[in-house]
Amino acid sequence: MNAETALRNSAVPAGLLQSRAPRDTFAAVADAVCTGLLRKRKRLPPWLLYDDEGSALFEEITRLPTYYLTRTERAILLAHADAMVEAAGLPREVVELGAGSASKTRILLAALSRRQPRLRYVPVDVSPSALSQAAIQLRDLSLVDVRPAVARYPEELGFLRRPAGGRRLVMFLGSNVGNYDPPRAVDLLAAVRRQLAPGDGFLMGVDRRKSPALLLPTYDDNLGVTERFSKNVLTRLNRELGAHFALDRFRHVVTWNARASRIDLYLESASAQRVAVDALGVKVDLAAGERIHTESSYKLTDARVRQLLERGGFVPEASWTDERRLYGVHLARVPLD
Ligand SMILES: C[S@@+](CC[C@H](N)C(=O)[O-])C[C@H]1O[C@@H](n2cnc3c(N)ncnc32)[C@H](O)[C@@H]1O
Repeated sequence: MNAETALRNSAVPAGLLQSRAPRDTFAAVADAVCTGLLRKRKRLPPWLLYDDEGSALFEEITRLPTYYLTRTERAILLAHADAMVEAAGLPREVVELGAGSASKTRILLAALSRRQPRLRYVPVDVSPSALSQAAIQLRDLSLVDVRPAVARYPEELGFLRRPAGGRRLVMFLGSNVGNYDPPRAVDLLAAVRRQLAPGDGFLMGVDRRKSPALLLPTYDDNLGVTERFSKNVLTRLNRELGAHFALDRFRHVVTWNARASRIDLYLESASAQRVAVDALGVKVDLAAGERIHTESSYKLTDARVRQLLERGGFVPEASWTDERRLYGVHLARVPLD
């Protein structure tokens, strides 16, 4: 291992992150507030949940007994990593969208680096602190060249257009795709697909449809960690935009929409209130009981997953699930012309 690789694998040196300027983040947060909170049906985009504190709280969520997604996806990867990397064609570069701390990804990278010694891993995330955690997680995989990139999908994927120097696998784990309603999920998959070459692979982890009796506690744990995660978005707006949200004037609300097959997370205003956002010179008016939508989590049947992949321009090739069939990991490919 040369000195440069050692440096890359030991931490995330700021210079190696493909960081955008802080003013771009400010503009994106400001835009999210202007387009999302100054309207009748209030909503904030899910990426806003992931500042340093949000990423740390998400890690805490993944360790909760009620949050089966992470440990189930990990079990599937542990059982099938060898088959997955073989089926993906032993890629030379692995790109992971919304990588977070990459705690499960190392299972696949370890399996792949045993067969593909010239392996590059590009974790992509909107949260720099999550990427630092990812680099720390992977420190001991000394043969893997780790190149983290701070970017937001689907808008900022253009940097993937460069040649990968071999076959590429894009991963999208953690049921992140469930944050998108089906038409937007197709748009996102198509945006990824446009950056890839024929024969490249796409591996996506997806939570399956199941009883709300199991789903609701997953997003409303009795330790209140998910509530803190959800409300942290208001703390972020207070810090970054000089907003004046009082967290105790909001309730964490989780609903199951059976028709759309999705969990929705909201922050519900406990009383009528007007909240100033100083940096933008605007005021957000909320009625008592009015909700701000912060995140959806679609729960998809296998048929629905196949449909999304096909509409995004991929050919579904293989799927793996756990014993209880709670969760699925799906491999698809960019068709050869
Ligand atoms: C639910 S967590 C999943 C993390 C990890 N993949 C896992 O399976 O545990 C979602 C991750 O995606 C990132 N993220 C969410 N929306 C994003 C976006 N639009 N662009 C880039 N990263 C995003 C968040 O910062 C967070 O790290």
